[in-house]
Amino acid sequence: MQPESRPMSYSRSELTKLVMPHMQNVLGNLFGGELMSMVDQAAAVAAIRHAGGPVVTAVIDRVEFREPIPIGALVTCTGTVDFVGNTSMHITVEVYSEKVSTGERRHTNTAHVIFVAIDADGKPMRVPRLVAETPEEQARYEAAEKHRAGGRRP
Ligand SMILES: CC(C)(COP(=O)(O)OP(=O)(O)OC[C@H]1O[C@@H](n2cnc3c(N)ncnc32)[C@H](O)[C@@H]1OP(=O)(O)O)[C@@H](O)C(=O)NCCC(=O)NCCS
Repeated sequence: MQPESRPMSYSRSELTKLVMPHMQNVLGNLFGGELMSMVDQAAAVAAIRHAGGPVVTAVIDRVEFREPIPIGALVTCTGTVDFVGNTSMHITVEVYSEKVSTGERRHTNTAHVIFVAIDADGKPMRVPRLVAETPEEQARYEAAEKHRAGGRRP
């Protein structure tokens, strides 16, 4: 039995990895596909926590690669459920690259991902309501709601 609602802070996720040589592209930086996998995992953890059960990726909406992430850096992805519909959860993943020797941390990417909770038959299933408890969370909720209103492609 799932609760009626969960606070936004309940499901926040964080995933950190050391960028290893086997994760590199031909230019010697982090391969984009590796980063996409981390983004999907960070979003999945947040979605599973909010739904309290299995979820699937429905949409990975626009990921921008603004700067390369070198081998040896620490990459952190944070996932926040910013908005929920009936069965869908709209998650923002922020990506940070950290230079180990100096501790300098740069925000390198933002991605928007939609997960859907599913039941035992793989059908979409209702998720708890989302409660934004702070002004910052309220702003995130409103931005995500506006983003969703942008629409689903035919
Ligand atoms: C995602 C999936 C469960 C949706 O099933 P469906 O029968 O199309 O379900 P619905 O049309 O009722 O959509 C369910 C929810 O997802 C949202 N959704 C589905 N596709 C969407 C899209 N392209 N853009 C935005 N929202 C979408 C709907 O708006 C709806 O949200 P709501 O319930 O909060 O209003 C189904 O398409 C599926 O299983 N896809 C494969 C998932 C997968 O294998 N992912 C990769 C590995 S995890």
